[in-house]
Amino acid sequence: MSQEHISRVGGELFSDPGPDGTLARGFLRGTGLTRDDIADRPVIGIANTWSELNPCNGGLRDVAEHVKRGIVAAGGLPLEFPTISLAEPFVRPTSLYLRNLMAMDVEEMIRASPIDGVVLLGGCDKTIPALLMGAFSAGKPALAVAAGPRPLSCWRGEPMTVENFWPIIDERRSGVLDDAGWREFESQVSCGVGTCNVMGTATTMAVITEVLGMSLPGSSLAGAGTEERSGIAERTGRLIVARALAGRSPADIVDASALHDAFRAVCAVGGSTNAVIHLLAFAGRLGIPLDASVLRELSETTPFLVDVRPSGEGFLHEVEADGGIPALMHQLGDLVNLDRLAGDDRPWRESVAPPRRDGGTIGSRAEPKGPVGAIGLVSGTLAPDGAVVKLSAASPDLLSHIGRAVVFDGVEDLRSRIDSPDLGVDASSVLVLRGVGPIGGSGMPEVGHLPIPARLLAEGVTDMVRVSDARMSGTASGTVILHVAPEAAVGGPLALVRDGDPIRFDAASNRIDLLVPDEELARRRAELRIEPVPSRGYERLYRGHVQQADTGCDFDFLRADGVSAPGASRTPGRTEQTA
Ligand code: FES
Repeated sequence: MSQEHISRVGGELFSDPGPDGTLARGFLRGTGLTRDDIADRPVIGIANTWSELNPCNGGLRDVAEHVKRGIVAAGGLPLEFPTISLAEPFVRPTSLYLRNLMAMDVEEMIRASPIDGVVLLGGCDKTIPALLMGAFSAGKPALAVAAGPRPLSCWRGEPMTVENFWPIIDERRSGVLDDAGWREFESQVSCGVGTCNVMGTATTMAVITEVLGMSLPGSSLAGAGTEERSGIAERTGRLIVARALAGRSPADIVDASALHDAFRAVCAVGGSTNAVIHLLAFAGRLGIPLDASVLRELSETTPFLVDVRPSGEGFLHEVEADGGIPALMHQLGDLVNLDRLAGDDRPWRESVAPPRRDGGTIGSRAEPKGPVGAIGLVSGTLAPDGAVVKLSAASPDLLSHIGRAVVFDGVEDLRSRIDSPDLGVDASSVLVLRGVGPIGGSGMPEVGHLPIPARLLAEGVTDMVRVSDARMSGTASGTVILHVAPEAAVGGPLALVRDGDPIRFDAASNRIDLLVPDEELARRRAELRIEPVPSRGYERLYRGHVQQADTGCDFDFLRADGVSAPGASRTPGRTEQTA
């Protein structure tokens, strides 16, 4: 069929009495809808990341049905469509490598489709960021529903959440856990659909979405598959119709103060360091200035308020029972902008309430759960464009530390040598992993949480200073400096480190420094060779346009201004990376 007469992409297409509308209605009526179902209604797309290749998002088929009920009840026409879906455990090389591709899919489908608004259904780590990035750029009214956390597992009679996996895996590596225990562990890895059941990346991004005003207040922590989540989905369906009729675009909702409040929330819950990358990408999409200096100031003035795993001990359902994010916003008080619109299009002020329990998981500014500065934004001679460290999950005795580097070039090198008896390492060493940044790792794999060498593990060492240009799982902890920019693969100083070099980390001064004389570094730089990497297809697009971590790893041409951010343009060796 020719598309020459299809001139409108909004829902008004379906009300057009002429040939455009008749054909459009006719095609929809072929699916079983009636003329009354279709005409003269706001049309709401439902962008669904449900996929059998993404168990974390496995509950979103049901969620979509509840969203549809709400849309229909409010007089709208729901039309669901699939998007790319990215599962952390499955996609390779990394989900971040594909985040921008998914965001382009979402943006173009929203823009091209005859819809007046969209509900975004996401969950697993990169799916919500990609959905939001696409929706921000498309500019149509949007609301999101998160998949919600999955039920708790059980290990040896105790509730088990995702961050408990890593010590069990270490037990296996060091030979403590036998084959039967290893099989038992596998059976308890996941006890249902839904996202990781701690304040990892997925839930952190759900919290950010709620604080931004892109999902309903009080919606981010309700469990997957619960009646509460079904109710949230139905209410979202009703409210997106109102948001669409009002023509309220994401840019009307998400301003600089919303991004600031979202980052404060991340700091207050000890959320995932991945959030920094996504927030910087959001800012780029919306044309809002945001950089490490702003984030550092916000972090340094935001107390750690919520006792929740992995930074604390509480469970997500306990935080939810204590009042969830509306209670957190109440406790943050004048640190956040309560006059901004929440996801129900009312000022946040009307949704906040004190925690339901004294002495529960949500503290107060007078009695916080930890100090200010849960997420550290550091820089120095080893990371001129910055790096990130989750201070709430770091060891206090390592926050000021000098140690000698033990360097690994990529994941294969790490795996082959980390447990070698010949590895010259002691508890004071600084483990360095490089070649795993946005370009070198093809999307910053979550390998920055380098394992403690088995010999030291057996001696009782549980944490060491670790540095890399990678990311780490939002469920991991330790004194781990991540997202070093510029990365080694484009000639950042990380590429110049050699075994035995002293590295100083000082959290108080926000510094990470390579203590090697400039002349020696200049000599090493002259010897550095950055080889071109053959690439085609998406990889070619990615390598040619991805930005460094300090500007959110988005493609330069997808930013609101359509040009490279300063961090990307100063990246040395960038053009040599694409053959
Ligand atoms: Fe999907 Fe954690 S692996 S949310």
